[in-house]
Amino acid sequence: MCGIVAYIGNKDPKPILMEGLRRLEYRGYDSAGILVCNNSKSQLSKIAGKVNALSKILENKTDITPHLGIGHTRWATHGIPNEINAHPHSSNSGKLFIVHNGIIENYDTLKMELISRGYSFYSDTDSEVLVNLIQEIQIKENIKLPDAVQLALNQVVGAYGIVVCDIFNPEELVVARLGSPLAIGLGENSLYVGSDATPFLDHTRKVVYLEDNEMAVLSKNGEINIKNIISDESIHPYVEELQWSLNSIQKGGFEHFMLKEINEQPKAISDTLRGRLLVGQGKIQINSINEYKDKFLNAKRVIFVACGTSWHASLVGEYLFEYFIRIPVEVEYASEFRYRDPIIQKDDIVICISQSGETADTLAALKIAKEKGAFIYGICNVVGSSISRETHSGIYTHAGPEIGVASTKAFSTQITVLILIALKLAELKKTIDPNLLLDYQFELSQIPEKIERLTKSAPLIETIAKNYSDSQNCIYLGRGFNFPVALEGALKLKEISYIHAEGYPAAEMKHGPIALIDKNMPVVVIATKKTNYQKVVSNIQEIKSREANIIAIVSEGDETVAKLANHVIEIPNVSECFTPILATIPLQLLSYYIAIIRGCNVDQPRNLAKSVTVE
Ligand code: AGP
Repeated sequence: MCGIVAYIGNKDPKPILMEGLRRLEYRGYDSAGILVCNNSKSQLSKIAGKVNALSKILENKTDITPHLGIGHTRWATHGIPNEINAHPHSSNSGKLFIVHNGIIENYDTLKMELISRGYSFYSDTDSEVLVNLIQEIQIKENIKLPDAVQLALNQVVGAYGIVVCDIFNPEELVVARLGSPLAIGLGENSLYVGSDATPFLDHTRKVVYLEDNEMAVLSKNGEINIKNIISDESIHPYVEELQWSLNSIQKGGFEHFMLKEINEQPKAISDTLRGRLLVGQGKIQINSINEYKDKFLNAKRVIFVACGTSWHASLVGEYLFEYFIRIPVEVEYASEFRYRDPIIQKDDIVICISQSGETADTLAALKIAKEKGAFIYGICNVVGSSISRETHSGIYTHAGPEIGVASTKAFSTQITVLILIALKLAELKKTIDPNLLLDYQFELSQIPEKIERLTKSAPLIETIAKNYSDSQNCIYLGRGFNFPVALEGALKLKEISYIHAEGYPAAEMKHGPIALIDKNMPVVVIATKKTNYQKVVSNIQEIKSREANIIAIVSEGDETVAKLANHVIEIPNVSECFTPILATIPLQLLSYYIAIIRGCNVDQPRNLAKSVTVE
């Protein structure tokens, strides 16, 4: 996955492109580059490194007054991260330039054909192949750039979000997408392009999202012409008005996006509940559930499909749905589900959970389930994202942009939505006493305040973190609703501090993992006073007898575990189904502080990117 920006209009593109790339670095940051041009000159700048390094080399370049520019921040898929492979890429003629997000799966065949026609290549990228294919078609067919792009894309297999320009005709930009997102911002005598809308939020809130197999020609006079690449039919642009405020993508005073987003969770959950949890009226209102009520009432099975943290949220969903709605649930890794020729039965509901709405495996799994006849429901955070647009229906988490690569507020808002759906369906299916449902609704409305209180335990957790920043390994244990929390806590630690960590159902220890326990293996145990509490206490005693250090997440006022664990972090007493939202907060903070002590790049951990739009 990479970040693409572009601009055409009457302003200087450089500052627009550079600020845009900075906002997209969460999508990839191993190399970056921009091309700017006017009617007589063009200037290409590229570097292996982050966007800030690119801005430094721009300072030494002679200024040209361009009105068109394209830019790119990369996460390597073809070719190692270096200046040669950085985008923008040019065609052999030096006229055409491209920035590309995605993977051209048949690029090697195309490359061989082009080489046989005398083309040469300076990089290892599939993107350079594409821009030369466009050149070859334009020359051979003697056609205009947009038509050449369209013909070239009809030969391409794979995913792309591209911007193409001709520096000898800097009056237009050609953009196209299949599988990788592209947003077009409509400004005053200006048109903006981004992999999402954040690069141009402070210039315009009017956005057109390209759909798959669509391309657009953006003209210097502000005109947009969209058409379908396959059918050639013209498409009227659907303009959305974005609500996100600019500061919602700034760090807001916190040192890192991740810490900001951990602290944003009370607001994110409140925003997610807004208009849906109507405590005063004693009801839950979810339009998509109302619209497809019969689908949900007749469903014989729910299959969750997701990746990473969203998969952990899906696992919480399994406990919630089976408890509240008494329906069989399966939870599938999207990357496994998509290649297994999965069995989809009549009345199956497939729920795809994805913060970015762009995860390639989840999107592919969705399409397979859809082709097999399942009703597809989406839980996404990004409005207009590819997954959200492929579903039959769905619901958005209102977490706002999540910039930190480690998912935090997305997880808690995904669980919030799952609780809302479970309570709503329990009401419709009459599986839970109506008075008890009202109690759950009221308790849910109090969760943001409880999380607010929990974030105040950050200093205690920062102190605990100091004892474990040199650990080589760590085990996380939980039972029932808290088993997925153990998995999520382990993922947080490993992905930002690079400490190996594993999550386990607490009872599984005796089936092997307890052999790992010694004084060098810290163990985090979620030991809230819920089902099987006593068994968790026994697990803690077994671990303690093997001299391991124990960090315990306990219910407020717990005195039993406090006598056994080395460190205790209390969370407010809530119903069991709400503990995952609360128990995760201290684990997010614990991984954050350990990673900071270890000097890790918390917002952009090594090898990772925010949205995995490649397979
Ligand atoms: C979680 O902290 C990671 N960033 C990663 O596991 C992420 O949850 C996964 O890639 C799925 O992303 P999605 O929710 O955007 O589909």
